[in-house]
Parts: sequence; structure tokens; C-alpha cells
Amino acid sequence: MPDSSSTSGQTVLTARLNNVLRAARAECATLPNVPEIDLLLLNADFSSAALSAQEMQAVLNYPAYWAFCWASGQMLARYLLDNRELVRNKTVLDFGCGSGVVAIAAAKAGAARVIACDLDDDALLATQYNAALNDVQLEIAKNYFDVESRIDLIIAADILYDRANLIWPSRFLQRAPQVLIADSRIRNFAEPGYKQVAELVGSTWPDLDEFDEFRVVKFYCGGKEN
Ligand SMILES: C[S@@+](CC[C@H](N)C(=O)[O-])C[C@H]1O[C@@H](n2cnc3c(N)ncnc32)[C@H](O)[C@@H]1O
Repeated sequence: MPDSSSTSGQTVLTARLNNVLRAARAECATLPNVPEIDLLLLNADFSSAALSAQEMQAVLNYPAYWAFCWASGQMLARYLLDNRELVRNKTVLDFGCGSGVVAIAAAKAGAARVIACDLDDDALLATQYNAALNDVQLEIAKNYFDVESRIDLIIAADILYDRANLIWPSRFLQRAPQVLIADSRIRNFAEPGYKQVAELVGSTWPDLDEFDEFRVVKFYCGGKEN
């Protein structure tokens, strides 16, 4: 039974979705590949078939990334829960946390501290809601450069869809001794200091029916401790 603060979080997030999609709801879902985690996401039976041109434009102007668990995020969460030594007792920063799925997985896998960072206020609200839903403690940061503490590991899932973000992988290497990036969108990721360490197949949830190539998630490790 959700308490009143979580009920109001769900109401606020549904209202944010309704600003762009009148018929959408935020509802709790268990992730198909990570049944250990529940998230508040766009209702799985939402149909985009009947969206008006105005609504389509609104979606493009306000992409509610937090309302989906992206394939890279879902599979990175799986990877951390299956390889707990990667995060155990570490201070971890999840860059571009969206729904918070990867940060939550890091906390569940035994990280000492997890900082969830996103420039979108709604993503930070969703991450706080989802942390409470999964009974884990996270710290929240809107601005990466405001985080002053030592970071042992930076994790990031599905942030390279935006070419402006291609500057971040090299920045991460200057900030932390270890970096783990999950991505299914870049065909040849050849950033100096990184190597591919694994590959998993999974999809975005709710399912966006993406091309098969976007379901192949590659994991790249960088940093001195690799
Ligand atoms: C596609 S979503 C991925 C969310 C989550 N990591 C996942 O895999 O489900 C990308 C997220 O990165 C955030 N983001 C994009 N560029 C960013 C930046 N420069 N700084 C912080 N967050 C950023 C977006 O707001 C969005 O929440």
C-alpha cells in the first residue's frame, strides 16, 4: 500500500505526463529483465497511434525520458545485479539517471553511496519516487559539477543518443578511476581509454518496438582500474 507522499509523487508525475499526453498515466511496473526492481513508468497499454500533431510536437519538446526504462538502463541494472563486485562498497554516480533504474540497481548491489544525476527535474522526482518504491537510499544531483565528493565509479546508460553528450565519456575519465557506460545507439564507440567488456540483449520498457539493433546493449569500461 503506497503512503500518502508516494501517492502524491505518482499524481505529480502523471500530471507532468498529461501536460504532453492527455491519456497517459504513470503506473508501477516490474521490469521484465530485472524483476528485482519496480518503477513508475508510462502505462504499458498506452497507444501512441492516435496522437495529434500537437501532441507529437509536445512529446518532441518535452521527451519524458524518465517515463521509460531504456534498454541500456535495464540491461546495465541487470549487469550490476549479476556482477555486484563492480559496485560493492563504492561511491557511485549514475549520470543521466532518468527513472533511476541504474542507480537503484547499484544501491541494491551493495554500493556504499549512490548519487543519481540528471538535468531534468522530473527525472529527479521520478528517481526519488522509485528509490522509495524499491526501499533504497539515493542522493540526488541536478548538476554534475556540484558533486564534490570522491567518486569511485561513474555509470551511465543511454546518454549518447544526443551527440552533444559525446564530450562526457572523456570527462568521466578525468573525474573517476572507473567508468561503465551502457549504450545501444552508437555503432562504433571508439573513445580512447574505453574497451567493450560485455553485451546483452534487452528492450526498452514499456516496449517502444525499437529496431533490433537498438536492443543490443554494449558495455564499455574505462579508467585506471580496468
Ligand atoms: C534515454 S534517458 C536514459 C535514462 C536511464 N539512464 C535509462 O537508461 O533508463 C537519458 C537521460 O539522460 C539525461 N541527460 C541527457 N543529457 C544529460 C546531461 N548532459 N546531463 C545530465 N543528464 C542528462 C536525460 O534528461 C534523461 O533523463
